Amino acid sequence: MTEADPGFPEACRVVFAAEVGSTNDEARRLLLAGTPAWTLFWAGSQSGGRGRDGRSWSSPPGNLYASLVLRPPGPPARVAQLAFVAAVAVGEALRGILPAGRRVSLKWPNDVLADGRKLAGILLESEGARADGIDGLVVGFGVNVASFPGEARLPATSLRAEGAGDIHPREVLAACLRALRRRYEGWAVDGFAPARAAWMEAAHGLGAPAIARLPDREVRGIFAGLAEGGEMLLETPDGPRRVSAGDVFFPPPA
Ligand code: BTN
Repeated sequence: MTEADPGFPEACRVVFAAEVGSTNDEARRLLLAGTPAWTLFWAGSQSGGRGRDGRSWSSPPGNLYASLVLRPPGPPARVAQLAFVAAVAVGEALRGILPAGRRVSLKWPNDVLADGRKLAGILLESEGARADGIDGLVVGFGVNVASFPGEARLPATSLRAEGAGDIHPREVLAACLRALRRRYEGWAVDGFAPARAAWMEAAHGLGAPAIARLPDREVRGIFAGLAEGGEMLLETPDGPRRVSAGDVFFPPPA
């Protein structure tokens, strides 16, 4: 069912289904069928929601599950910047919904936290990557609106638990889409620098001891920010390091 809403940006075409496996799969199907950029697939719940690194994403009714089709120009390395552009946008949207005083921060690469607890996650999947470009990109985002998983890798929270009241996922989606559109256009015109600066301003754990868990080893250092290519910068005893894959953890002070 296609949804029209005065709160969604005009360029967006929103398709809704009560339940799907994963909205990223539905959006990819639309992408491959030639749907224009800014088509978004939104679902009330997911039976096979996916997180980063092959993890599952708990997807009961009441939260937001949405995947946006984009067709950004440029090589894969440039398009990868959109993971951070999207995190900045979703963070800005959620900051505008939460009561004043809640600190919204961004954890590398693209988790959105409220007072240190995970509120939203983002999963980018590209299609048809070549050296000089991609066929399209799916930006999937999940926001804990009404509930959050009790058993999660990171402590989690929801908009409702943080005092946002009984907000409907549709309102959260509209705010996210407006922010995504604004930030995407900024990126297309001005490049990565403005979003990178905004990401750094909201960064979780900047200047703190961090452990980057890579597929085959751990790197320990002080988290020094985000490189121009989106890598995590770590100051290690062996000098500066750039980490481009994996997860970051901030051990509590001993
Ligand atoms: C993460 O933090 O690991 C990323 C989570 C991304 C979840 C969203 S929910 C909508 C979209 N569909 C999916 O299957 N995953 C993303």
